[in-house]
Order: sequence, then structure tokens, then C-alpha cells
Amino acid sequence: MNAHKEDRYVGAARLFVSRFDREPTGVWSAPGRVNLIGEHTDYNGGYVMPFAISRRTAVAAAKGGTGWTVWSAATDEEAAFGVGDLAPGRVQGWAAYVAGVLFALREAGFEPPAAELVIDSDVPLGTGLSSSAALECAVLSAMVDLGGLDLPRERWPALAQRAENEYVGVPTGIMDQSASTLCRAGHALFLDCRDGASEHIPFDPGGSGLAVLVIDTKAPHRHVSNEYAARRRSCEEAARVLGLPSLRDLSGADLPAALDKLDGTTGRRVRHVVTENERVLNTVAMLQAGRIAGIGPLMTASHASMRDDYEITVPEVDTAVEAALAAGAHGARMTGGGFGGCVLALVDADAVDSTTAAVAKAYAEAGFTPPEAFTATPSAGAR
Ligand code: ADP
Ligand code: GAL
Repeated sequence: MNAHKEDRYVGAARLFVSRFDREPTGVWSAPGRVNLIGEHTDYNGGYVMPFAISRRTAVAAAKGGTGWTVWSAATDEEAAFGVGDLAPGRVQGWAAYVAGVLFALREAGFEPPAAELVIDSDVPLGTGLSSSAALECAVLSAMVDLGGLDLPRERWPALAQRAENEYVGVPTGIMDQSASTLCRAGHALFLDCRDGASEHIPFDPGGSGLAVLVIDTKAPHRHVSNEYAARRRSCEEAARVLGLPSLRDLSGADLPAALDKLDGTTGRRVRHVVTENERVLNTVAMLQAGRIAGIGPLMTASHASMRDDYEITVPEVDTAVEAALAAGAHGARMTGGGFGGCVLALVDADAVDSTTAAVAKAYAEAGFTPPEAFTATPSAGAR
């Protein structure tokens, strides 16, 4: 455990003591994530390739009381609820992510123990790095251990996703919760969202003199959840028109014939999904051949597809990608659901500062809020 992570564990435990005047039984944590490639493919039964980042959400907890009392350092707010509140809609705001996990556990036949919890996180909230999945998975991890629940880790992603879909009410896919629970340090997670099969692909950019630069574009999120749901509906409708269980079942070879049956906009959505799945497979092949820099063009093509076919980028995001590429990045793309959030740039390790400066300069010229950047290291999932 490095010093930074240790601090967060110690910090969460200290906050628990000052909040509840007793020692926590333990501290559990789960990471945020970036997605290397494979965007908006998860809910289409397709392929994704996220990796966990070193920023984590820690939960210090101990059993006690008759319900749940939870305080988060990020919001400086306490929420308290009981079993009667574990129905969708009863708990609102940030605590819905916590109540949602308890709800999903009960729906799956598990009894989460009454407890007090303190949340401490260094995953930035609402920037597309999945602070919500980190919160869900950290709470789930704490509940499983504290309650001695016999819930194998392979089942965690679907359970945490259920919290988000049914309790919080956001129709996201399974990628974020899978990354936050299953990822391994030094690896990206190659996940087949149709059957949940996963493979840990060695991914160590630093070992090849490279770095993954994460640029928080600071773009204000506009209509994100409506647009996300609209994209998802249009994919489901296209699959129905094409007579397929999901768009995963459409191959690149069958794409031209399929496009003839769809209107222009729907056709472009479908083309993004089909070509994106192919790019994930090509990325896996490239990494397995040890050619990390070779994934750069696939990342950049993924971005163009999100911009032109899926239409989920915004000017801040496109500007960051273009500036990074102009500064010599091997590849760059938006990561996550879209309409803001973060951009990834694969750069030479010694070009981190110059790329960051180039993006900042382009932002200043465009009059955008200054971006923030950090380098991401593939890290471990929940523990
Ligand atoms: P992302 O998951 O990409 O960060 P979302 O908008 O999906 O963005 O989720 C962010 C929301 O999750 C926050 O607005 C808050 O409600 C909740 N959340 C995440 N982490 C925490 C935390 N540490 N404390 C309280 N709420 C949190
Ligand atoms: C995220 C969502 C994921 C995935 C992604 C786009 O916001 O939570 O499930 O669909 O967008 O690839």
C-alpha cells in the first residue's frame, strides 16, 4: 500500500472516530476508473476496456443501531435511514447511492447489517471518473465483510449496477461497477458485457516510457442523463428493427446492409457501436503484442466516432483531444458517458508537462474554464 492510499484509510478511520466516538471495525475502499476504449458498448452487450485509477473512495464502518447512519466528507452531510426506506425514491441525493446498495442486497436475498459509515474519497465527483460506482462498490465491500455475506465478487458488479439503475434511477451499463470491483493493478479489464466474461490484460504504460494523461475538461454537464438514455433507447430500437438480441450481434461485415434499414441518425449510432467493438478487439490484440503506442490511433478513431456518429462530445472535449494530438500524443479520446467529463491522452512519459501546457493554452485561447490533468496508473479494484 503506498503512502497516499494509507493516508486515505487512516483519514477515513479518524473521521469515523470523530464522528461516532468509537473505532471503526474496518476500512474498505473501491477505485474510480477510466475507460481506455469501448464507449457506450456495455449496454449493447459489447466489449469495454476500463482500468481502475489510484483515486479511491474509502468507507470506514462498524455495525450498530437499527438502521444506517452515513456521513460523507465530500458533502459534509449525514443521512440516516432504516429498512423501511430501502424502496426506490425514499432516499434522495448522494445517500441514494448508499441506500441503493442496501436495497439491491436485500432484493438479492442478503441482509445488510445495521451500521454507521463514514465516506472519504479522493475521486472527484461528477467528472466522469465514476465516483458513484466507487461509492457503491466501497459500501458493498463493507457490507459484505461486516455482515459476513456469502456474495462472491463476480456478483458485485450486477448488484451495484442494480443500485444505480433501480434505486438512483440512472440507466447505466455494467462497466463502471465491473471496473471498480474486478480491476487489477498493472492491467486493463477486457470485459465482454454480453456474458460477463473478463480477462486482465497487462497494461503498464510507464514500463514502455509512456503515460496516460487524464484531462478533466471541466465542461459543464448538460442534459447528460437525458442524452444517455436517448442513445440507449435508439440502440435498443435499432436492434429491434434489425431483429437482433442486441447490437453486439451485428458484425462489421453486416453493417452496410443494416444501415440500409435504418434512418440516418440511428444508422450512425449503430455504426459507432459496431466499429467501437472492433476497436476494443484491436486494442486487446495490440496490447497482447506488446505494442502499447499502437493503440493510439484506435483511441483517436474512437473519439472521432463518438464525435461524428454518436454525437456525445462537446467543444471542451474536442479541443482537449485536438490540442493533445497536436502536441504529439499517440492518441486521445473522451472517456465515459460523454457531454463533458475527462479526456485520455496516451503520451510519451517525458511529454506529460508539455501536453498539459498545450491543452491549457488551447483552453485559454477558447475562453474555457482551465482544465486539470493527472496521470493515471492501472490500479486494483475494491478491497
Ligand atoms: P461520476 O460517477 O462520474 O463521478 P455521477 O454524476 O454519476 O458522476 O456521480 C456523482 C454523484 O455520486 C455525486 O453527485 C454524489 O451524489 C455521488 N457521490 C459520489 N462520490 C461521493 C462521495 N464521496 N460522497 C458523497 N456522494 C458521492
Ligand atoms: C457511463 C456509464 C457506463 C457506460 C459509459 C459509456 O457513464 O455509467 O455504463 O455506458 O457511460 O461507455
